[in-house]
Amino acid sequence: MVLKRKDLLGLKDLSKEELELILDTADSLKEFATRKYKKLPTLKGVSMINMFYEPSTRTRASFELAGKYLGADTVNINSSASSVVKGESLVDTGKTLEALGVNIVVMRHPMAGSCKLLADNVTSSIINAGDGTHEHPTQALLDMMTIREQLTSLKGKKVAIVGDIAHSRVAKSNIWGLTKLGAEVALSGPPTLLDHNKFTKLNVTCHHKVEDALKDVDVVMALRIQKERQGTTLIPSLREYARLYGITKERLSLAKKDALLLHPGPINRGIELTGEVADSLKSRINEQVTNGLAIRMALLYLLSGGEQNGNIA
Ligand code: CP
Repeated sequence: MVLKRKDLLGLKDLSKEELELILDTADSLKEFATRKYKKLPTLKGVSMINMFYEPSTRTRASFELAGKYLGADTVNINSSASSVVKGESLVDTGKTLEALGVNIVVMRHPMAGSCKLLADNVTSSIINAGDGTHEHPTQALLDMMTIREQLTSLKGKKVAIVGDIAHSRVAKSNIWGLTKLGAEVALSGPPTLLDHNKFTKLNVTCHHKVEDALKDVDVVMALRIQKERQGTTLIPSLREYARLYGITKERLSLAKKDALLLHPGPINRGIELTGEVADSLKSRINEQVTNGLAIRMALLYLLSGGEQNGNIA
């Protein structure tokens, strides 16, 4: 099967079948992501650029490795070292890359909707690596892959997402993806960071008391407080947040006995979760990172024509 779209901008637009295709393809590529087998030449002749206007460790490194493991030519552009600092617009930068024959642009940008703007103006495929508070589709896909791998299916599984929901693009993409594949999503966060009226429309439940969201869930996903998007006044303070919402051993014990703990990273130990739970047997944080590589390999493969480039199974 082929992913019949030029870009990956968000999970809101994807069908259940498309989500399953990406997850199944990533499952087949996991052995290459974990280096059990060496490179696949599938994307030989494909060129991709990582264009990151915000900091990143996991997403940027895994996209670059994903491209290299599939034989693509990969280049990284750091926004501070690009012509953006000389006043070039995003669309002009995109058209420049297009003129260089770049097939795939992976972009992270602080402005919600920036990836769509670029996608609408260039023929290259655009992959959203996080646009403002809008979506971070590859993060949600790797979260879904991790849950599916550990719990066999997403259907009927209860997932609690705790933290700065208002500013989290990870939460938004997970809400779209998880609910499409049949999971039940419960959100929890301080009133200033979780608008019940807005989110209950998305077929999820909202809880200001974190204990209510965690009860009997299969998965607990803790989120980072997005200080960079809250301006100078942090509401609530980090200390208050940790006291009322931080995932501790005691709070985690409210979830099912074999519940999984996820976090997209980077982790702030002692704030959204304790070091003890981050390093516990319930934690799947390192598996998430490994699966991120497989998901990004799958997307590069599928957006470049899938089976037309050779069978990976
Ligand atoms: N989860 C995530 O997007 O991490 P990075 O910011 O390190 O890419």
